[in-house]
Amino acid sequence: MNGIQELKAVSSSQDGRFVVVQSQPWMAEGLTAVQRACFPELSEAELMGPEHYRQHQLVFAEGQFAVWDNVQERVAACSTDLRMNVDFARYAHPYMQEVGDNTLSTHQPQGEWLYGADIGVHPGYRGQGLSTLLYSARQALVRRLGLRGHVAGAMPKGYGRHAHAMPIEEYVYRVVLNELQDPVLSVQLRRHYRVWGIIPDYLDDPSCRNYGVFIVWRNPDLGWPERGAAQ
Ligand SMILES: CC(C)(COP(=O)(O)OP(=O)(O)OC[C@H]1O[C@@H](n2cnc3c(N)ncnc32)[C@H](O)[C@@H]1OP(=O)(O)O)[C@@H](O)C(=O)NCCC(=O)NCCS
Repeated sequence: MNGIQELKAVSSSQDGRFVVVQSQPWMAEGLTAVQRACFPELSEAELMGPEHYRQHQLVFAEGQFAVWDNVQERVAACSTDLRMNVDFARYAHPYMQEVGDNTLSTHQPQGEWLYGADIGVHPGYRGQGLSTLLYSARQALVRRLGLRGHVAGAMPKGYGRHAHAMPIEEYVYRVVLNELQDPVLSVQLRRHYRVWGIIPDYLDDPSCRNYGVFIVWRNPDLGWPERGAAQ
């Protein structure tokens, strides 16, 4: 008995097989398994483990989502978020600094932005809309909490294959133009995230040559500073 029935569903897939819920302490091993399958090239020091997930639920329970598979009765995907104030003139921080070495000690309870620390869909579940469920849940959380929007350091995981042919800024430009497809950034652009800038030495992962791409999704209820509040 895993207790999934007692949890409030944030959303679900149309057929009801997959349900988005707030992550629970008893899911910690399943969340860790998803993370390890999703980030095989990250160093051990950068990976989250069961203790990290339990800690995140204590720090900011609302920002921790899991996608539960009702058929196989396991965690299929998950995401980790915190709140912070963002200085857009100084956005290029390493991943581990942003997430307090994966403890979320950098969480600011009154922070104006939701910061996406992590999203992963187990390889066996990709291409079925699970990340779309998670991005929607995060964007709904932004709107419910009245935050300015959602930011994240995306990992341009296709860049490693193109690094011999072009610099990172050209690669990102061509992904934005839809001339090149990136397995991560293209998905995020189609979920209405936009590129703010490139982060060198974001983390230690050869598939993205250690780069991150700082992306932004703005809360449509609030608009942006130049426009003022939405009418
Ligand atoms: C990036 C990632 C989260 C996307 O998850 P996903 O659940 O496969 O995404 P979705 O199914 O919602 O959307 C994937 C898109 O690729 C398409 N697709 C088709 N076949 C696919 C396949 N076999 N695998 C993945 N995507 C496929 C989907 O139709 C969809 O297209 P759309 O954007 O036009 O709608 C997932 O690939 C992942 O976990 N990657 C590893 C971890 C990672 O890099 N995380 C991001 C860190 S910034």
